Amino acid sequence: MTFTVAIDGPAAAGKGTISRGVAGKFGFEHLDTGLLYRATGRRVLRGDDPVTAAGALQAEDLLGDDLRSGEVAQAASRVAAIPAVRAALVEFQRAFARRAGGAVLDGRDIGTVICPDADVKLYVTASDDVRAERRFQELRAAGADVTLQSVLADLAERDARDAGRDTAPTKRAEDAFLLDTSGMTIKAALAKAVQVVGAVYSSGG
Ligand code: DC
Repeated sequence: MTFTVAIDGPAAAGKGTISRGVAGKFGFEHLDTGLLYRATGRRVLRGDDPVTAAGALQAEDLLGDDLRSGEVAQAASRVAAIPAVRAALVEFQRAFARRAGGAVLDGRDIGTVICPDADVKLYVTASDDVRAERRFQELRAAGADVTLQSVLADLAERDARDAGRDTAPTKRAEDAFLLDTSGMTIKAALAKAVQVVGAVYSSGG
């Protein structure tokens, strides 16, 4: 059995928590596709060519706390605007989506480009202020020396680049369920996502 859940949206909207939660609930595997771009960005920061880096990713590239840093996030957003980098990562993502037992992929272009035929699509978003506050708390908890203002500016810059690029910009697929988590606890947002996915999954896809 294959069953693909596509979850897209801007940075820090709650996609990661929701994707992991949905995967856990239904026993699907989860791929955070942002990690592929972050790993490519980190290699570029170390001096690699972006397209070569994307084509050479290995499992160990997806490890390391520094993948979560603001510097790597910005580098990821920049390499993600290069069409040849995106092309180098497409097949891995599509193969993952088709794996037996079900898959959840989260990113920016999963429902529009990577898996346009996904069984369920969600577009998870939240207001700029809510997203910045959540990311700020996360980074502070991890010991990062950041201000709310710097996090807000960083997210705004990344969102503008990710949504404004020509190839596979951040976009809600027409058939994606819109989940605005601004006024919701993450627990309530996850419960809603599970309900939306469950309604399709229990009806046999
Ligand atoms: O989801 P994230 O914040 O870890 O993603 C990091 C960057 O990678 C993001 O700014 C844009 C890019 N990205 C993308 O272009 N397409 C995806 N499917 C996932 C991430």
